Amino acid sequence: MIEIAKHRTPKNLIIDYKQGNCEDLSILEDNCFDFIVSNMVIQDLANYELAFREMYRLLVNGGSLIFSILHPCFVTPESGWEKTENGEKLHWNVDQYFYEGTYEQKLGDKEKMVLFHRTLTSYINTLLNTGFVLESIVEPKPSKEMLEKYPSFEEDLRCPDFIVFKLKK
Ligand SMILES: C[S@@+](CC[C@H](N)C(=O)[O-])C[C@H]1O[C@@H](n2cnc3c(N)ncnc32)[C@H](O)[C@@H]1O
Repeated sequence: MIEIAKHRTPKNLIIDYKQGNCEDLSILEDNCFDFIVSNMVIQDLANYELAFREMYRLLVNGGSLIFSILHPCFVTPESGWEKTENGEKLHWNVDQYFYEGTYEQKLGDKEKMVLFHRTLTSYINTLLNTGFVLESIVEPKPSKEMLEKYPSFEEDLRCPDFIVFKLKK
């Protein structure tokens, strides 16, 4: 789903919703956005290179892209907590970091899901080859307020689940 803020008056924001595949956004014209935000989508795309090209095409010169993905250094095939018999979390295991492609992983108690893995090098080099300038990276940690409300996020202070990129055209 692509959300487009048409008018910017804060009291009366009108959002124009369009549904499309972010690997092919030919329904939208070149250079028509100042800002693109994508939360936790790029890692699920079969062809993330095309999505970066589309986002670059849609941004005005000097426009910004902010996007988050699962952290590719820690969320890899076979990654997960090493636990004691009582379920105490000892450490987070990472394996097969250099594997690029699809893999199946059980997330919590849910059924297996198909996930994609690419290295951090692949993400960053693809962004740079597309023409983006990398401005900053954040590996977010839960705030004190968030931990008070959701104590289970404490584990995110040990190992980051997510990474956020800020780029400029
Ligand atoms: C992990 S969810 C994140 C959803 C939402 N952005 C959020 O922050 O809660 C990933 C989303 O990516 C969408 N998605 C997967 N492939 C897509 C594609 N090719 N084009 C647009 N959306 C896609 C899925 O439908 C799903 O809603």
